[in-house]
Amino acid sequence: MAEQKISIHGVWGSRWTFILAATGSAVGLGNIWKFPYITGENGGGAFVLVYLLCIALVGIPIMMAEVLLGRQGRQSPINTMRELVRETGANKGWQLLGWMGAIAGFLILTYYSVIAGWSLNYIYEVGVGTFNGKDGAQVGSIFDELLANPKKLLFWHSLFMVLVTVIVAQGVIKGLEKAVRTLMPLLFLLLILLVGYAVNTGSFGQGFAFLFNVDFSKMSWTAALTALGHAFFTLSLGMGAIMVYGSYMPKKASIGGTVLMVAALDTLVALVAGLAIFPIVFSNGLEPGAGPGLMFITLPHAFGNMGFGQLFGALFFVLVSFAALSSGISIIEPAVAWVVERFKVNRGLATAMLCFLAWFVGLGTVFSFNLWAEFKLAGFTFFDVLDFLTANIMLPLTGFFIALYVGWVLSQRRVAGELAMQSSGLYSLWRFALRFLAPLAVLAVFVVPLYERFVG
Ligand code: PHE
Repeated sequence: MAEQKISIHGVWGSRWTFILAATGSAVGLGNIWKFPYITGENGGGAFVLVYLLCIALVGIPIMMAEVLLGRQGRQSPINTMRELVRETGANKGWQLLGWMGAIAGFLILTYYSVIAGWSLNYIYEVGVGTFNGKDGAQVGSIFDELLANPKKLLFWHSLFMVLVTVIVAQGVIKGLEKAVRTLMPLLFLLLILLVGYAVNTGSFGQGFAFLFNVDFSKMSWTAALTALGHAFFTLSLGMGAIMVYGSYMPKKASIGGTVLMVAALDTLVALVAGLAIFPIVFSNGLEPGAGPGLMFITLPHAFGNMGFGQLFGALFFVLVSFAALSSGISIIEPAVAWVVERFKVNRGLATAMLCFLAWFVGLGTVFSFNLWAEFKLAGFTFFDVLDFLTANIMLPLTGFFIALYVGWVLSQRRVAGELAMQSSGLYSLWRFALRFLAPLAVLAVFVVPLYERFVG
């Protein structure tokens, strides 16, 4: 019986540990680095609104489905899907879900680590006062110099990957829980402090309006796809991270409430990061559509020009790096769990091998900013292609099939039993979202742009 299964990798001590770990996974570079810059590139308010709708109508229902699947299977996503498909006699094709997720996760880690490396580097740069008294343009060129320097990028990318390896090798439950418990609230506090600074820049209203004034003329289907992809990315969905964490979740914990909490915290951090960053953008005449460098230019500029900025700034990048680390370990966990199950090797070896491979593929992203910057596929660098392929294609597609599988294939008895929701109204709402809203939303943002391009 499903009830008796436990994972060979361990079980979280309590529901809280799951919340911390899942929030650690969700809150990361996606919130503080990626959300503000893609919002800037896509014109602000309307994009934010679509993103919030995607979180509520697509992300939360699918996150519940992933946790439910993990807790049913109690194994790596690949084996969880294999076993469930066998138990329920479903079409074997559904097993591909586990594989697509694990591959997407692996690919994400290869570039996530490079960006996390920038953040590690900025602990040092801000800490030694590199940005003190510099203006926006000067801070921007310091960032460009970092990107142009493959040796530096390589060094910090390697360091981040070593940190991930060391933590994952020891098992997620040991060191991480404590760290997340203290560091996540601290990150939030520092973000609030930055918002405080932003309020005093004189451009707070402009930043606020940029984030929340909805102007649909700035919206396009491509932007909607980016919003949807980011909803998956920021909630760590569609690649098995939440499923594998779900497989370590104690039986008693309620899935609905837990997932809501994680999604709410994640959204809050992203919005607060936006409120910290955009006023600084406008008060310094910087470009909101500056791209991936946005956070690495605006915030160091603020730190370089405020009292105790060196100290607070270094601390801020420590926390961002930490948030990236607690996401990084969850990105590789599905693959590690599978290698341990499949080849019966110990966790340390499995982690070291996979992280080495990810590090190696990550060199492509390192070089895409300098040595290979000229090699482009339809105008996109290696990093752009990876980012687009994983976040905008693979995650939504896997999520789409998860919604279909849990919504249409798994028996109601199994699903309702696992969720154990008290309110039948909420359960129906969830089921409706999973069966109809989520798949249709994904289909729409996939199909309409194709139609517009090739037919319309
Ligand atoms: N959610 C993480 C972030 O926002 C990134 C992530 C993606 C983590 C996919 C796990 C899986 O930074």
